[in-house]
Amino acid sequence: MAPSTMQAVGVTEYGPIENLRAKEVPKPPKPTDRQMLVQVKAISVNPIDLKVRGGIYDDPPEYYERVKSLTQESPNFHIIGYDGAGVVLETGPEVNHFKAGDDVFYLANPAKQGTYAEEVLVDERHAGHKPQSLDFVQAASMPLTYATAYESLVDRLEIKQGEKAAVLIINGGGGMGSITSQIARNVLKLPIVITTASRPETVEFSRKMGATHVINHRQDIVKQIQDLDLPADTPLKYAFITSRTEQYLGPVADVLVPFGKICSIVQAKFDMYGTQMMSKSLTFAWCWLGTGVYHNYLNDKEEKHHEWYEEMAQLMDQGTIKCHLMQRVRLTAEGIREVHRRLDAGKAIGKIALGVDEPGEGRAFC
Ligand SMILES: NC(=O)c1ccc[n+]([C@@H]2O[C@H](COP(=O)([O-])OP(=O)(O)OC[C@H]3O[C@@H](n4cnc5c(N)ncnc54)[C@H](OP(=O)(O)O)[C@@H]3O)[C@@H](O)[C@H]2O)c1
Repeated sequence: MAPSTMQAVGVTEYGPIENLRAKEVPKPPKPTDRQMLVQVKAISVNPIDLKVRGGIYDDPPEYYERVKSLTQESPNFHIIGYDGAGVVLETGPEVNHFKAGDDVFYLANPAKQGTYAEEVLVDERHAGHKPQSLDFVQAASMPLTYATAYESLVDRLEIKQGEKAAVLIINGGGGMGSITSQIARNVLKLPIVITTASRPETVEFSRKMGATHVINHRQDIVKQIQDLDLPADTPLKYAFITSRTEQYLGPVADVLVPFGKICSIVQAKFDMYGTQMMSKSLTFAWCWLGTGVYHNYLNDKEEKHHEWYEEMAQLMDQGTIKCHLMQRVRLTAEGIREVHRRLDAGKAIGKIALGVDEPGEGRAFC
């Protein structure tokens, strides 16, 4: 008989990196509705994992209360992680797009048990078939950043393909900026994609990922944009903030043209008063990828997520979008702790992902 338990990595108490540990826990229950049970081959770590593990995640105000009641399969043990790639073991009765044996990449539900586990339940609406040109580790680095970037540019900012406009992306070298700049340049075909980066290596990486211009976020943003002397027929109409919303909102409002649009994905306390937000009639939009599923507002947008993942797989197989994975690590508890340390240092370039078959010591997930 198949074992009823599995190895997983998570926390019993939210806090420092050392609180992350391996534990034998019950396997997820049988998939229902549109859920699939997936054997996890690879995961990637995102800043949200660090915030959740640290007990400081504040995108939804009551997050920790919700999670407490939704992680009942392993009480008092929260399995962290959102991005993953693996093989479908079993499908729920209403799954349409996948069957057992399919190679998939996916995003787990932010309020349920996560992907740092041998098996995970995934909703088919938040999964796609793994791109053939990527291995599991590369595929696991894609879903969260790609879907957030796509939703921000296309749904929140409403950028139209081929529009003659410029976009400013704050933090071009991180996991988010490096995929957003590719979508802006290679999919939406914006002629000007300005990113920010402060180190030679992040500047170079951001250029490789589609930036037509890179400025330094540790220097005067307004002056640097003025110095670019952008062509008058390509207005700086859009901005996407992926770091310190409170710090960048003012300068971004200064450089956008009237009626421009700003989207941020980073929660912060900030004040629009005294900025050019009102005088320029600028639009500000939040984007949180978890919105639909967290609020059980499962409209057609959730279906779109699946379509985005399938489209992304095609774009990657065609070479239109490049994988932004920069470091590969063996998927053990210590491997995960090490990746949390690297991200915590604030100097990640692109993405870091972990796989069960990567070289190194130790049993996977232990
Ligand atoms: N709302 C959502 O649904 C959603 C989804 C995904 C991510 N997020 C959030 O988006 C943020 C970015 O995620 P990410 O994966 O891109 O992060 P990341 O990969 O950890 O970003 C690393 C980069 O941040 C840059 N950086 C450090 N301090 C900065 C500063 N003060 N200003 C500008 N850039 C700075 C560094 O570039 P330099 O070395 O060049 O300075 C570094 O290369 C996180 O807070 C994450 O939680 C939200």
